[in-house]
Amino acid sequence: MLLPNHGANPSILLKHLGKEQTDSVIDFSENTNPFGPPAFIKDLNSDQLVSSIKAYPDPNVTDLTERLAFTNKVPKETILVGNGAAELIYLIAQLFENKHVAIVEPAFSEYREACEAFGCDITSIVLPPPWKLDVEKVTSTFSKIEALFICSPNNPTGVQYTEKEIIFLLEEAEKAGVYIILDEAFYDFSEEGVGLARLQRNFSRFIILRSLTKMFAIAGIRLGYLIADKNIIKKVSLYQPTWSVNGIAQHIGLKLLDERSFVTNTVENIHIERRRMTQLLQELDYIVSDSSVNFYLLGEETRIDLMPLFMFLVDKGIIARHTYNFSGLNGAYLRFAVKDRLSNNHLLAALSEWRKR
Ligand SMILES: Cc1ncc(COP(=O)(O)O)c(C=O)c1O
Repeated sequence: MLLPNHGANPSILLKHLGKEQTDSVIDFSENTNPFGPPAFIKDLNSDQLVSSIKAYPDPNVTDLTERLAFTNKVPKETILVGNGAAELIYLIAQLFENKHVAIVEPAFSEYREACEAFGCDITSIVLPPPWKLDVEKVTSTFSKIEALFICSPNNPTGVQYTEKEIIFLLEEAEKAGVYIILDEAFYDFSEEGVGLARLQRNFSRFIILRSLTKMFAIAGIRLGYLIADKNIIKKVSLYQPTWSVNGIAQHIGLKLLDERSFVTNTVENIHIERRRMTQLLQELDYIVSDSSVNFYLLGEETRIDLMPLFMFLVDKGIIARHTYNFSGLNGAYLRFAVKDRLSNNHLLAALSEWRKR
């Protein structure tokens, strides 16, 4: 059976499965903020939008770049805004065209797709459950690679690697001349919520990737950014099409950065719900990944293919994220978003029923 490569868009999944289209599903496959987007987006004044639509956007994304630099306490020359983090992944892959790269997996599938598109030779470093970072295993690849893709907190496991582990990798990478691309698309969901931007200035080959999609539930707007040495930013920006970041995205992006209490409230609610779900699911004897963010992996002790559970849930109007295209998971786990209490309870009831069959 051919399943979509990404979560979200339940109607595409239902089509793949040959199921009837319906709006009454709860989509646990989408790992964006279940409470978002922020209220101001619904109140956007149409005059402002029309002017952003009519005019060519600022090709240098000046205001948003400056705001991101200020917020992250880094020079503006070390920031590049992109049409979603996804665009930036492709621009970085282009930087390593035909070179040897490594990916810490299971990981977001776009690193591989982008690196394959640019003819990279790819080494996969697969972490086994419970998906903690094995720094020795990672550094053992450094003598043969140019760049390493690593995501923390990681999609799809939700596991956040420690600052100490990442610093160790950065130090070893600097010695070996290896670039480290750290994807922090979910950093603002973690309890500390600080990320490692402040370390960038100490490591010339350290590239941090961020997305505004996840926290602000703006998948359709497309906004992400890089923090890296100014020479890397200069080089990568040459690959980026002019006007890549549209005017509405630039306009909205600036306002999103003022939404501090929206972020704090989200993080608080997500943590309460994730802890509650983890405990109740473990009581039902499920394996739950040690996530620090707004999604988690769920498995069974037997580690068998969970397609029957996936289909059981679909028939109850619950959409999970399959894991067939995540190296090392191969369908033996399902990824669920942490949602509001009502939706989470609905999922719990279904998973409890599955246990009792
Ligand atoms: C880990 C990770 N990085 C990057 C992205 C891409 O984010 P964006 O919507 O900003 O392109 C995703 C989207 O699912 C993701 O999971």
